[in-house]
Amino acid sequence: MFLHIQNVLTAEEIAFFQQSLGSDAPWVDGARSAGGQAQHQKNNLQLSQASELSAQLQAKVKAAVHRSALFFSAALPRRIFNPLFNNYGDSANYYGNHVDSAVMHSKADGCWVRSDLSCTLFLTPPEDYDGGELVITETLGEKRIKLPAGDMILYPSSTVHQVSPVTRGHRISSFFWVESMVRGLEQRQLLFDMDTALLQLRAEHGENAATVALTGTYHNLLRMWADT
Ligand code: NI
Repeated sequence: MFLHIQNVLTAEEIAFFQQSLGSDAPWVDGARSAGGQAQHQKNNLQLSQASELSAQLQAKVKAAVHRSALFFSAALPRRIFNPLFNNYGDSANYYGNHVDSAVMHSKADGCWVRSDLSCTLFLTPPEDYDGGELVITETLGEKRIKLPAGDMILYPSSTVHQVSPVTRGHRISSFFWVESMVRGLEQRQLLFDMDTALLQLRAEHGENAATVALTGTYHNLLRMWADT
């Protein structure tokens, strides 16, 4: 599943993130937090997780993401691995091809999180930098993604992906991983398609016996497949 979710952040929130994540924020070498294979590919800056600012901004990202009904429908989140922040520019400006770790240990709550979905929340307007696309390799070729500030992309954590070199300006974003209540990609996609179609049916025809019955089927499938 590749899903572009628009306007996850309000204009005020985008301004707050941009102001908070300037050059004087506590940035550290991003390679320090990467796993073995990814470490050699990672050349960027990441906000120190030990900083108070990081905790404050993490809470803001989580609150914004939880407002999105589309995010909930698509990801069916069970756990979110604490959002992180990165900065690409100058000589620390790319992250070569890699696959995200399958399981991650959160220092915040001591829990393990399985990465089913990866999310990037863009914080810099695309006209403020060159390069810096999120490039995802698929069987049918490459997807190159560069979104407006405040928009988010959801994609399967199993994909090979990279961030292409930023050649002008700085690209700042938040990224995090989701462990879904529904582990299987096919089941999750089916539930999302059904939920989307049900929303359309209700908008066009209102609630009726058929939408009630189909909603019941949706919940019964979710009950069969969800782990909470
Ligand atoms: Ni990655």
